[in-house]
Amino acid sequence: MKISVYYTPESTPDDIAPDCAVVIDVLRATTTIATALNNGAKSVKAFSDLDLLFNESEKLSPSDRLRLGERGGKKVDFCDLGNSPLDCSSESVADKQLFISTTNGTRALQRVQSASLILTGAMINYSAVVEYLQQHQPETVWLVGSGWEGGYSLEDTVCAGAIAKELIDYNQPDLIGNDEVLASISLYQQWENKLVDLFRLSSHGQRLLRLHLVEDLEYCAQTNIISTLPIQKQKGLLVSN
Ligand code: MLT
Repeated sequence: MKISVYYTPESTPDDIAPDCAVVIDVLRATTTIATALNNGAKSVKAFSDLDLLFNESEKLSPSDRLRLGERGGKKVDFCDLGNSPLDCSSESVADKQLFISTTNGTRALQRVQSASLILTGAMINYSAVVEYLQQHQPETVWLVGSGWEGGYSLEDTVCAGAIAKELIDYNQPDLIGNDEVLASISLYQQWENKLVDLFRLSSHGQRLLRLHLVEDLEYCAQTNIISTLPIQKQKGLLVSN
């Protein structure tokens, strides 16, 4: 298994595709997707375009669906919810089909559509990602951070580092796909016991704090509180593995 880390969707090569891509958006999209599926949502369909989300979700009756939309950290008007994992309780999501569009996470999912296998990872479920990869051994794996509008993000990189640390073997440098792998592991080892502090300092963390979303930040900084693994079943449609 050759592991590579890409800090942003834009930095992924566009002429090759991995066997498996793991999309990471710790604050907050992939945390929300895992939480919703863990709390009984039937599926989560991801869109980078809000109009497409609206038109496709219109095909279901309001009692069978939920629209989750976020831009700039804020809820999109026509959506039922924003992108807070704390809004995805079993009362609100159980047996519903979710339609989600966010600033970066769903764009990252779009970017890796040519991968044969797509998973999503966050701090709350990263061991589930590690276990799946160790069991299935895809030959090439990309850990793809969603970043912020093409820019680097600390929280996604630290999560990529947590996953990579469990997977790579320093005695096999040829399976370390790029330098970002060791850089992300180093960042994780530096901050693994104080993730909330790191998230508070991160640029998107500060954006969420300005929106008074400290509980979201604290929730997203927890590690392995669930074993739910979102996996893509068909284009953009994520279900619990
Ligand atoms: C994103 O996709 O950029 C994030 O999930 C945004 C957020 O929820 O704050």
